[in-house]
Amino acid sequence: MLIIGCSHGKHLAKKVAKSAKAPYAELFVNKFPDGELYARFRNSLKGKKVVLVQSFYGNINDALAEVVFAAQTAKELGAKKVTLVAPYFPYLRQDKRFKPGEAISGHIVGKLLSSYLDEIYVMDPHLHRDKTLGRIFQISSHRLTADPLIAQYIKKNIHNAVIIGPDWESYKWAKKTALMIGAEYRILEKKRYSSRHVDVRITKPLHLKGKTAVIVDDIVSSGHTLLETIKDLHRLKPKKIVCICVHGIFAENALQKLRKAKAEVVACNTIPNPVARIDVSGMLGESIRE
Ligand code: R5P
Repeated sequence: MLIIGCSHGKHLAKKVAKSAKAPYAELFVNKFPDGELYARFRNSLKGKKVVLVQSFYGNINDALAEVVFAAQTAKELGAKKVTLVAPYFPYLRQDKRFKPGEAISGHIVGKLLSSYLDEIYVMDPHLHRDKTLGRIFQISSHRLTADPLIAQYIKKNIHNAVIIGPDWESYKWAKKTALMIGAEYRILEKKRYSSRHVDVRITKPLHLKGKTAVIVDDIVSSGHTLLETIKDLHRLKPKKIVCICVHGIFAENALQKLRKAKAEVVACNTIPNPVARIDVSGMLGESIRE
């Protein structure tokens, strides 16, 4: 097995290789002045099981093109099998045609990568209407979750935690995490009007005095879901509010906005960011070794 760090996966790939007890190399990637990508392997791939590690943040479309180039090239150079480890996999929130004429991006990207890869591992994919990765990919697919790592973090660092899921979709993370540490939990109701306009409601009585409200969600993108939730929770006077997510995208200065709203923020390191304190590399490495 050879673990390859692609440009958006290098922050984790070396540690993944260490935990998988496999050698590590990097894909050389360059960008031409016109925006085209150049990719090159500098190692022999003949007969190897090549594992590409690539996360999808920042310029996600470049990151996708890079995986396509790398996977096809690895096959041409004699790789026996090509696997993608995706700490964060994009486009999955567009899992249906919400308005006539829309592209169901998650399905299209899944189909594209399935034609180049043999296998894929995804950390906490945003599966909602599609219940399994088998609905997205036509290759062997493995879904991993950071729930136990988040639970461990809360147990070690936060006292008197009440776990809050900001919307129905977050119950997978919020409820499971709460059950793992025996904490009280509550799932709130969210209505989304647009990508930057959401409304979150606490529908039943919730007592937070003297407690730490820990909001757990899979993705923080614009931060509006959490900002709305924080606003409501502050009215209940908790001792502290902590937001924990798997994938901290933090677009449009979301991290600064959350801090300004008087919340502490913690993320897993599926995407590099200043609050990526929960390390998923061991879990990724062990899974591919198995
Ligand atoms: C959606 O259902 C997800 O679980 C997150 O709640 C959502 O993606 C967060 O997006 P934003 O930070 O832009 O509100």
